[in-house]
Amino acid sequence: MWWENTFLRLKGRTLYLGRVSAEQVAKRNGSPVFVYSRAQISSNYQILHRTFSKHLRQPLRIAYAMKANPHREILKMLQGQGAWIDAVSPQEVEEARRSGYPASRILFTGTSLSGADLERVFRIDGLTVNIDALEQLEVMRELRAKGFREKKIRVAVRWNPGIGRGFNPKVITAGVRSSDGTPVKFGVEESKVLTALERAASYGFLPVGLHQHLGSGWVNEDFEVVSTAVDKMVSMARRIEKGGFRLEFLDFGGGFGPRYQRHQSIFPLDKYASHIARQIAGSGLGIEAVVIEPGKYLVADAGVLLLRVEYLKESYGQLFACVNAGTFNSLPRPAIYPQAQHHIVNCGRVFDGRMKTLTIAGNLCETGDVFAREIRMPVPQRGDVLAILCAGAYGRSMASRFNLRDIPPEVLI
Ligand SMILES: Cc1ncc(COP(=O)(O)O)c(C=O)c1O
Repeated sequence: MWWENTFLRLKGRTLYLGRVSAEQVAKRNGSPVFVYSRAQISSNYQILHRTFSKHLRQPLRIAYAMKANPHREILKMLQGQGAWIDAVSPQEVEEARRSGYPASRILFTGTSLSGADLERVFRIDGLTVNIDALEQLEVMRELRAKGFREKKIRVAVRWNPGIGRGFNPKVITAGVRSSDGTPVKFGVEESKVLTALERAASYGFLPVGLHQHLGSGWVNEDFEVVSTAVDKMVSMARRIEKGGFRLEFLDFGGGFGPRYQRHQSIFPLDKYASHIARQIAGSGLGIEAVVIEPGKYLVADAGVLLLRVEYLKESYGQLFACVNAGTFNSLPRPAIYPQAQHHIVNCGRVFDGRMKTLTIAGNLCETGDVFAREIRMPVPQRGDVLAILCAGAYGRSMASRFNLRDIPPEVLI
């Protein structure tokens, strides 16, 4: 099947998670339950590393966007493979530290930061702080003058290149407005980038990098816009170097993902890596490292959510498979983003049964609480275990206790 990988295997008509059938895993651990695969995460990391390193002259830093899935064992495992960290809150920074990441491998990229947030990260020696706004820099200046005067705090600028890309307006994180018209709150606009660096240096900070993150969930069709943003980033870096700053790294953010749906053609990673390498090589920039910040790519297809069908319901001609979990408590993406369609398989009978159109309904008090809406699949029976695929990223990490339901446990195999 198109979704098979190191983790997900089809044996006959049964879904296997590694060496054990998904139904066995659900029997042992109960359901709902998240199941993650070390082997798949490791393979994703290696592929990414090879793809970029093949083209780049500079060392690659893969900074895991831990917001995707901050499970401690996953953090530790990636740390062991050589990953860096993209952290977006002081709490993420602290969790990364507990999981073994040295501060020198953490880039802190916050937004709407309070003085208290900044103070928490300023206390950590060696961390790099991303500047999201000139106004944030003023808070940093005050704080440094108060209690951190002697510290050489490394900073980068998160700039907004004026174009962004993502699978849903809510996750387009650059540009003036998102595709639904929402003003984009992130980053320093082009005309203010040099000012940000000059002020940062004059306030006693140590500018070391330039960062952008365009959005999340790119597919093949996004390449053109994304590559234009790469060009813009490199030319901004040249202007910065001409302005007298030496940049240690360029950070191109995350955004590329695995295949969520059968019809998707995935983002051309090799072409992207080669484009970045070519642009940097042709620019004469003296940077020491290239950074990328993948979240989804590393963990999405390394996770499934197993659910049990409690009963089938028919109402006004609609068929519902009513399951024992709610989207908001486990995998909120389909409820939040209409385009977030996760493929769902019946673990014991992947192709068996009469195909029908049905809606996978969760157990929460909200009409939008559906894992999938009017999809064609073999009709499940009461007690069947369903697997929601690509549930390793932005599932558990976005889950809430809406209706006071529990958040499913997680197992790593
Ligand atoms: C600053 C930053 N970097 C990286 C990422 C990771 O994005 P993705 O999971 O699409 O790779 C995000 C996600 O929103 C982000 O905000």
